[in-house]
Amino acid sequence: MTGGAGYIGAHVVKSLLENDFKVVVVDDLSTGLERKIPEQAIFEKQNISDTKKLAEIMKKHNVTGVVHLAAKKAVGESMTNPSLYYQENIGGIISLLEAMNQANVKKIVYSSSAAVYGDPVEEKVHENSQTHPQSPYGETKLVGEWLLKADEKARDIEWIALRYFNVVGAALPELGDTGVNNLVPMIFRALDNKQRPQVFGDKYSTTDGSCIRDYIHVSDLAHAHVLAAQKLITEKYCGIINVGTGQGFSVKQVMNTVSKVIGKDVNFEISQPRPGDPAQTVADVKKAASDLKWQATNDLESMVTSAWQAWQKMPPANN
Ligand SMILES: NC(=O)c1ccc[n+]([C@@H]2O[C@H](COP(=O)([O-])OP(=O)(O)OC[C@H]3O[C@@H](n4cnc5c(N)ncnc54)[C@H](O)[C@@H]3O)[C@@H](O)[C@H]2O)c1
Repeated sequence: MTGGAGYIGAHVVKSLLENDFKVVVVDDLSTGLERKIPEQAIFEKQNISDTKKLAEIMKKHNVTGVVHLAAKKAVGESMTNPSLYYQENIGGIISLLEAMNQANVKKIVYSSSAAVYGDPVEEKVHENSQTHPQSPYGETKLVGEWLLKADEKARDIEWIALRYFNVVGAALPELGDTGVNNLVPMIFRALDNKQRPQVFGDKYSTTDGSCIRDYIHVSDLAHAHVLAAQKLITEKYCGIINVGTGQGFSVKQVMNTVSKVIGKDVNFEISQPRPGDPAQTVADVKKAASDLKWQATNDLESMVTSAWQAWQKMPPANN
């Protein structure tokens, strides 16, 4: 798998190993941490842009399928440096697909994102909803899906693109999110810095005016990868699957949940809305239930509790 030293990737590696998969992690450690890779996994420090090396690694370890998570993921950075995101994320998956072709590997689980939907018109977005990504990051994730569809036709690959919603929490404190691009770690960082956490806009057409998102525990998300990989082993399948809880929470509700978990009022403040932030993005999760037999098991409080435990144990490197 690619990106196994990262926040989500480390959880996916853990779940795959627990389900008796043999795992080879390919990661360049650009944002990931080697200490997150369990010793039962084989580690190859490698940037995925080197197609020849990737194909050699696949052949050397008799790889039969790929779980692809390595990518750049900061939406804001993608707005200011779009070509970096096109280069890394689209260049990355092109290189990977080419290496798979050279090594005759035909199955891939791909980490896509709810960012492909943009500003949805439906209360809940399903896999056939319109895609209007609002950032170069979201565009690169969508193009990744197109490349999978193209290689299904051209090279007979089988694939599952998991569209992750807002990922929170940790299975173990040492596997916490070390980045601070997501809401919950952003709140923790603000509190550590004795600043008031920001709610970006409270005039959206939602129940309390702040944006609504679908938050998913990283352990539940990791388990969806195991089921997706197993599905590709046992049957012929190609498709996109949303991975969320199907339940929306507003930013203010998340702030209140954090207050409850840490036992202290977070005393947030309202600031300007961020360009490109949709009012509401919540997953329709029927397809995950029917096709993967998967559903989320953790609620928001358990996500925030595990994230808080991880944050206290391991302050982020870039905090
Ligand atoms: N975190 C979220 O909320 C979220 C939501 C939707 C989708 N995603 C997607 O999930 C995936 C993993 O995200 P994450 O939060 O774990 O990010 P992360 O930055 O923690 O992990 C990415 C990993 O990929 C590695 N990597 C990056 N570029 C590489 C390259 N060119 N070659 C080899 N390794 C490389 C990094 O070193 C890191 O270990 C990404 O594809 C991201 O777009 C994340």
